[in-house]
Amino acid sequence: METVKLNIENVLGFVDRAELEAMQPEVLAARAHLLKGDAAGSDFLGWVDLPEQVDPAMLSRLKADVARLSVKSKVMVVVGIGGSYLGARMVIEALQSEFAAICRGSKPYIVYAGHTLGEDYYAQLLAMLDGEDYSVCVISKSGTTTEPAVAFRIVKAHLEAKYGKAEAASRIVAITDARRGALHDIAVQEGYPAYVIPDNVGGRFSVLTPVGLLPIAMAGYDVDRLLEGARDMRRRCLETDSLEANPALLYAAVRNALYRRGFKVEMLVGCQLNLRYVAEWWKQLYGESEGKDGRGLLPHSITITTDLHSMGQYVQQGERLMFETMLRVASPAHRVPVPTDERNLDGINYLCGKTLTEINDCAADGTVAAHVAGGVPVMQLEVPSVDEYVLGQLIYFFEFACGVSGYTLGVNPFDQPGVEFYKKNMFHLLGKPGC
Ligand code: PA5
Repeated sequence: METVKLNIENVLGFVDRAELEAMQPEVLAARAHLLKGDAAGSDFLGWVDLPEQVDPAMLSRLKADVARLSVKSKVMVVVGIGGSYLGARMVIEALQSEFAAICRGSKPYIVYAGHTLGEDYYAQLLAMLDGEDYSVCVISKSGTTTEPAVAFRIVKAHLEAKYGKAEAASRIVAITDARRGALHDIAVQEGYPAYVIPDNVGGRFSVLTPVGLLPIAMAGYDVDRLLEGARDMRRRCLETDSLEANPALLYAAVRNALYRRGFKVEMLVGCQLNLRYVAEWWKQLYGESEGKDGRGLLPHSITITTDLHSMGQYVQQGERLMFETMLRVASPAHRVPVPTDERNLDGINYLCGKTLTEINDCAADGTVAAHVAGGVPVMQLEVPSVDEYVLGQLIYFFEFACGVSGYTLGVNPFDQPGVEFYKKNMFHLLGKPGC
């Protein structure tokens, strides 16, 4: 059964089928570069085979560490930025209750650090950690990124003051390079259990390494199902040449065709709030992979119907820049019907008995029709539900399509030279030696 389907019927008024078919050789050539490793960025293609190559011994050790830490932690602090936290956060926030911070279950609650330098955030984090048993997972591929390094120093000092150095060390797990970087050296010297981010997997493609797997498992979710979903999508991406049957090739073809037609912004539209971090992860994946050499679609996101009341006006009638990729979920995990009210003071008795999904679906269908009429092409990415298997499929789908799309655009999708510019200025202002 095809779990992820890409419906492009509302794009065809903006690009025609012949145009898309003409793109097939281009996306197939781009895929060949990914599979042969004969184009720019080929040192960073480890993610392509990752779902098939996860080391079972590493996975067993990871589950054992998760079990050990879960017993003594109500909270885990995941320290990381960009690709070193967004993938885990996407899966966890898609699956957990929106109210998990209050209605804690039996599994540790995951909080994040190292993704901001906001001082209030850290003051509040430390105040909360005063009253909680917690552990720490510190993640940095380079092992030298300033934000997580500062955050880890702060959290480590708190942990050591709270538990003593030896117990603190037993509550820390490090995920970093196999040989290099300050975090690698700290982990060796302090004796922290450590996991490796493979050299050939870039940060934003690392969610299926321990970077994503450890926090996701710690939050209580099934990483085996996640990997199974990724494996199944990988087969589909690799084995099928036709655009109809291969959603990653089709997605890459459509977004490049629209870009060539002058659409410069892609909005990922989630129909449920729990998909917000899918959009955050996707924005990094596509923004960092394609936004270079003066080219690339600007990735943006909204959630409906929430943001129709803030951004809906612009999308409908503002400058015509954007197309949408709407993420539709057929069966959310729960059903909440609208109750009957005989007095009907609010005038919504016509909705009695309908579930919120039925209402939301009508809102989504209405939005598609309105936006298309307003000059916004809309692709719909349809999934049956939100669970680990589907998320594994979506992760691999978006990663593979990103590689194909980047090569089709004509850029190296696997570097991020522009990210260094702010760091250089910041280091100079901070008086870092040598900068
Ligand atoms: O995709 C990337 O390479 C980046 O976004 C990194 O994930 C991010 O900058 C964090 O880097 P590191 O894991 O080295 O601390």
